[in-house]
Amino acid sequence: MIEPMITLTGRTMSAVIEPRGDAPPVWRWWGGTVDARGLPSLADTRPAASFSLDIDQPLAVVPAFGTGWFGPPALRAHRDGRHSAQWFETVSIETGDDGLTITLVDRAARLTLVQRIAVAGDLLTLSGEVVNDGEDVLEIEWLAAGTLPLPGDCAQIHSFTGRHNAEFVPQAEPMPAHGWVRENRRGLTGHAGPPGLFVSGPASGWHAGRVHAAQLAWSGNHRLAVERDDDGVWVLQMGEALAPGEIRLAPGDRYATPEMLATCSGEGLNCAMQAFHAAIRARAPWPAGGMRSRPVHVNSWEGFYFDHDEAALMALADRSAALGVERFVLDDGWFKGRDDDTAALGDWVPDPVKYPRGLRPLAAHIVGLGMEFGLWVEPEMINPDSDLARAHPDWALHVNGVPQHTSRNQLVLDLGRSEVRDYLFARLHALLTELPIAYLKWDHNRDLAVAGGADGRAGYHAQVRGAYALFDRLGAAHPALEIEACAGGGGRIDAGIAARTHRFWTSDCIDAVSRVRMQRGFLHFMPPEMMGAHVGASPAHSTGRSQGMAFRAAVALPGHFGVELDPATMAETDAATLAGGIARYKALRDRLHHGRVWLGEGPDGLVWQAHGKPDDLILQVTRVEPTTVRRPPAIVLPMLAGRGALRVHLLDVATEAGHPAPDAPVFAAMRDGGVVYSGDWLAQAGLPTPAMKAESAALFRIEPA
Ligand code: GLA
Repeated sequence: MIEPMITLTGRTMSAVIEPRGDAPPVWRWWGGTVDARGLPSLADTRPAASFSLDIDQPLAVVPAFGTGWFGPPALRAHRDGRHSAQWFETVSIETGDDGLTITLVDRAARLTLVQRIAVAGDLLTLSGEVVNDGEDVLEIEWLAAGTLPLPGDCAQIHSFTGRHNAEFVPQAEPMPAHGWVRENRRGLTGHAGPPGLFVSGPASGWHAGRVHAAQLAWSGNHRLAVERDDDGVWVLQMGEALAPGEIRLAPGDRYATPEMLATCSGEGLNCAMQAFHAAIRARAPWPAGGMRSRPVHVNSWEGFYFDHDEAALMALADRSAALGVERFVLDDGWFKGRDDDTAALGDWVPDPVKYPRGLRPLAAHIVGLGMEFGLWVEPEMINPDSDLARAHPDWALHVNGVPQHTSRNQLVLDLGRSEVRDYLFARLHALLTELPIAYLKWDHNRDLAVAGGADGRAGYHAQVRGAYALFDRLGAAHPALEIEACAGGGGRIDAGIAARTHRFWTSDCIDAVSRVRMQRGFLHFMPPEMMGAHVGASPAHSTGRSQGMAFRAAVALPGHFGVELDPATMAETDAATLAGGIARYKALRDRLHHGRVWLGEGPDGLVWQAHGKPDDLILQVTRVEPTTVRRPPAIVLPMLAGRGALRVHLLDVATEAGHPAPDAPVFAAMRDGGVVYSGDWLAQAGLPTPAMKAESAALFRIEPA
């Protein structure tokens, strides 16, 4: 009997799987939408190839190791060195409205492998699970969350590198002759951004062409790989990178991978990014009523560092409230003995010297001003110079006989241990109960090394699972609490932690010029409402570069806006500009944060981003470098094609005060009642842009005429 193909379909994507009776199902397609009904079987399609096994082994949905498929296997496992080869039989393929579950069994190796593939919108969510059906230990070296085929005409891999203060550095590479791998062994997501990539098809770009993309929902070690197969196609895999001996399954035990979120767009990078935004939004842990308008933050870090003084911070609260700030986040430096970064992590009680009355008066003052009170913590960390370390010297990750390396003078608590999780829950729960805390900024300021658990085995996996359990327990006990994920800025931005947190601290670099690139990188994977974007001091502490206040406020506008400076140090003109920026953010935030996001590039170094619906959006055009052309170019907005008559309003050109660029009458009209263009004109001939000096941004509203 010929079994029909299984097709998972999104708006611009299809994934086609061929069941083969008892034999494992194989991939037929993952790409643009197709109709696979009546498709001839793969066996009827593949001629024999020389020097090949007589039993053909095409790319299976779960490719086995060592039995004739020579590409990357989904599973590497063994029992004390034996049973490393797998020969799977299909037990069942259960299909439902939201995807399928494939259950395979290997009777010789005595294991069951379950591959789940769910489909929602334009997104596939893949995860694997292996169960030890034998009577001795099954060692797992690798289990892919998903294995996906990429067509032979793929053109480029787009990914990101980065470091502290320089997150989201974009990379574009041609398809590899052999393979491409990004493997992370830091025990933490890392400053290169989420574990993810985009693979573009021929002639694809921001707005058109085929783009495959995937990201792993995991905050620890990971492996992303694209390998070229002899057949001339590529195989994409993602999964947790396991340390030697890390996962040893006792009889009956199971190991489940993180989820891999995958999408294929027929409409360029933007459509793939939008599928990611939709997926992250669907996972977001907002309370039942959904996301509230993202409140304007003030954060004490760059204004005050460790120098806490109750009266000075109350004055910061006063000045911030006057500017329109809605949430005050008290950063590092508030807890017992924390005068610099050498001591006190782990001792989560207010410092009696800096806060002789505790934190309650400051928190009450903030709440009295109509703001929410937020607090910085770094729960997974411990300073050797802390009461906690003195009481529990064995609680940090370690390997006997190997020096414990500090980083920023701190060690990492072993969250694989339930007593450690219980201690942290109790301390955080006490703070949340005793004080009116609406928000935690949850930091993680180092990589993991040396990372052995209590049993002497590598503890990376247990660390991530333990941290997730702590987030989940705290979230369940305090459902209204919002949490920001920070790891020295953007060291832990991923879809795993996005299901437990509400905001990311994008980078410790608040230099607005650096932020233009970083925030565009962020938006490849995550929606703008989660993108912590602050107005910092000038010169920027991380780079020493200066930018005008209008530009700083404009760059922060599309994200979750905040202020990270002491307004007392600002000139009055800057204070007025910042207050105006805050008011603009409040007026626009619900438009900026609920719709789709398009990124684009114009001529002459212009970059733009649009937020909203295709015929009703906010558009920001940013110029970083000075222009090289005599008159400003138009920017083409392809998503406006066929949208009828649209009215364009110019809301602002954020530029250095006192240095205006020459204007033209149409921009005065755009500022006045708006100017009507057809969507087709804007999509092809383009929108005229005003003259813009370096480090400036023009803000438009486009709506149906
Ligand atoms: C990290 C964070 C900063 C700040 C400091 C405090 O570097 O990214 O924003 O919270 O820690 O020590």
